[in-house]
Amino acid sequence: MKRLYNLILACLLMVSLSACGKQAGADSSADKGMEPHGQTESAGTTEQTEKEQPAVSEAEQTEAQTENNLTDREEQKIEGGDNTVTGDISFNFETKTVLLNSGYEMPIYGIGTYSLTGDTCVESVTAALNSGVRLIDTAYMYHNEESVGEAVRNSGIPREEIFVITKLYPNQFSDAEAAIEEALVKLDIDYIDMMLLHHPGTDDVEAYLAMEKAVADGKIRSLGLSNWYVEELEEFIPQINIMPALVQNEIHPYYQENDVIPYIHGLGIVVQGWYPLGGRGYTAELLGNEVISEIAAAHGKSSAQVILRWNLQKGVVVIPGSSNPDHIQENTELFDFELTEEEMERIGALDRGEKHDWY
Ligand SMILES: NC(=O)c1ccc[n+]([C@@H]2O[C@H](COP(=O)([O-])OP(=O)(O)OC[C@H]3O[C@@H](n4cnc5c(N)ncnc54)[C@H](OP(=O)(O)O)[C@@H]3O)[C@@H](O)[C@H]2O)c1
Repeated sequence: MKRLYNLILACLLMVSLSACGKQAGADSSADKGMEPHGQTESAGTTEQTEKEQPAVSEAEQTEAQTENNLTDREEQKIEGGDNTVTGDISFNFETKTVLLNSGYEMPIYGIGTYSLTGDTCVESVTAALNSGVRLIDTAYMYHNEESVGEAVRNSGIPREEIFVITKLYPNQFSDAEAAIEEALVKLDIDYIDMMLLHHPGTDDVEAYLAMEKAVADGKIRSLGLSNWYVEELEEFIPQINIMPALVQNEIHPYYQENDVIPYIHGLGIVVQGWYPLGGRGYTAELLGNEVISEIAAAHGKSSAQVILRWNLQKGVVVIPGSSNPDHIQENTELFDFELTEEEMERIGALDRGEKHDWY
């Protein structure tokens, strides 16, 4: 009888310990979100918490994961510290793409369409697509969104394989919603891969928020800024909700932005350079530069290819403009050679802080 009594007592003790274990487990998985008094909740309440737990935990886990990723990125930024590419935005030279903070992949070389209009634009973009280019940069201000859209639609290449960037100009910021619709109609390619604000200007925050809404509506996939530098970014970013995925600024050997690039990379934002070859009117001087020509000869490549490769090795996406099919093809052949550290430094030493446009 006494043995039976002891057995019952032992069973009761085990059941009670097991209930405590469950409670402790629930407390630790709910973690910081739970108040200490939750520990005194009845077994019934505990069960209910446990049933609801997975959904809450999943959300918390995702949040925690995001925070971890950001922390990792910040740590990598600190480790990088210099001009190296850090975090998730490092270029994949195999796939020739970079993973944007929006989750989309973007090619690391493309074609710029400034000053290409009408048939010239259609033909240039078509030539680029035929050469394997999958990134196209246009803008409202280039008056060629229709032509870019036409070339994309007629290419026979699946839409998802092409990445189109366009931009809102400051005179559109006051009614950005209408401007976004206008871009969608002109391009006529279902959705816009990335939209940038072309320059800082009045109502730029409101315009960016309108682009954020278009992202939520599935009209635009990724957002970015153009001609935003350190001070402008510091002021702008706290006022928006979606971190820009890309900043497009003037970058070439005579204007290198060596302070700005690491700052932008440190935010997990991809950098893209405009006027990579110096811009029209300046290309002859830049391509004829003695150091660049010497390095080009050493690799059996052209000066343009050396400059574009130098950008890529600095973690800068290139969008050279061209209406010449031979140049367009040449500008894609950037992956069969590599600049040495010394060559990178020699080009780095050419910086003159010389802007080739006012913005
Ligand atoms: N966000 C902004 O504010 C902003 C400002 C300016 C530009 N952008 C963007 O950046 C893109 C690039 O700028 P960009 O087109 O003005 O200037 P760029 O790319 O620096 O230079 C274009 C010039 O280089 C020549 N070129 C191209 N490839 C060549 C090669 N392999 N060998 C010799 N010459 C070559 C082109 O002539 P050919 O036609 O004869 O090849 C053209 O005259 C623009 O198209 C635009 O999409 C953005």
